Amino acid sequence: MFRKGKALWFLMVAGLFALLLVGCTNDTSSEPNETGDDQTEETDTAEETTGSGEINVGIVLPTRDEPRWVQDEQRFKDALAGSSYTTEILFSQGSSANELQNVETLISRGIDVLIISPHDGDAAGAAAQAAAAEGVTVIAYDRLITSTDAVDYYVTFDSFAVGEAQGQYLIDHAEGTGVPLYLYAGASSDNNAFLFFEGAWSVLQPKIADGTFVIANSSEAEALSANAELSRDEMGRILGQVTTNWDPNEAINKAQTHLTAAGDDLKGDVAILAPNDGTARSIADVFATDSDITSFVVTGQDAEMASIQYIIDGQQSMTVFKDVRRLVEDAMGMAVTILDGDTPETTGAYDNGAKEVAALQSEVIVVDQANVEAELIGSGYYEASDFTGLE
Ligand code: GAL
Repeated sequence: MFRKGKALWFLMVAGLFALLLVGCTNDTSSEPNETGDDQTEETDTAEETTGSGEINVGIVLPTRDEPRWVQDEQRFKDALAGSSYTTEILFSQGSSANELQNVETLISRGIDVLIISPHDGDAAGAAAQAAAAEGVTVIAYDRLITSTDAVDYYVTFDSFAVGEAQGQYLIDHAEGTGVPLYLYAGASSDNNAFLFFEGAWSVLQPKIADGTFVIANSSEAEALSANAELSRDEMGRILGQVTTNWDPNEAINKAQTHLTAAGDDLKGDVAILAPNDGTARSIADVFATDSDITSFVVTGQDAEMASIQYIIDGQQSMTVFKDVRRLVEDAMGMAVTILDGDTPETTGAYDNGAKEVAALQSEVIVVDQANVEAELIGSGYYEASDFTGLE
């Protein structure tokens, strides 16, 4: 859990970035590779134009197979356009072995700072240790690297608040009592999946206990439904039953299995806790085809473009918007401070099982049909022309 500190940081980053942008005029453009069959995906950014081969900052993202991380790649590129700092973005394609190889490649390119979103929080310890051994400063990005002291900083969103917001949305839209509640979760290799679920459980459990909701698809969650707080192991048991592994196809299989097993008392008007947009759309599509399901409220996360269209069309109820521009700004701002030989400011810390990791945490925003235009178009995150059916 996040422990708070000072909060000046954002203003300083914005100032620093303005300085950086004024500095240079390079143009970078490397189109994403659609094949997706390469083991490690490479995207040269500023380095490509300077041709030096030396890289200041290495960036490693989990996979290109999810729109969320392609979004981050683009936001890094946007933020770095014209920067004098050289960076390289590599994708690990869902493999910790690739991740380690990516980090070793970047170390050989002379990086001083590594920004990394781990595929598997524990397994990424090896990559972090390899970097630290070469004097590289390691910044965990969005997902925490766990069980190692080789990570120096962490930039993230308030993941507990993501789950809390998803749970509260289901509560605010539940009518009557005995509403069937279908629980789904992220990959247990991802520390965030536990924080999301912990946040959701913190508000849902009292509503399960008072009979508002009836758990429809997890005997472990039912067995633990009297516990306001769950241990990591207890959460692990529930995740073991309802994980999607962040894979939309696995989400489809689980949803179909759960609906096939469910009796009429678990159909009708139901509530669905879906952990992110990619899985939410899959699960919603399955529930939409079950004629015994009268209506459903389904959560999401990431404000992926496809889910914004689903929300506009009423096929997904909400998403938790995490403004990736802010996360990129925080991460690059930290990297610039470190490259300048200074110590970046942080606003709190996370216990990763080996140490208290100094962290910078950003807020999240609930988006549904009522505020989708204001939050996603009004903020310039997307263009109105990216969607149909907007007012
Ligand atoms: C989480 C991340 C989410 C979601 C998910 C799937 O760690 O915080 O935004 O995208 O991974 O990749």
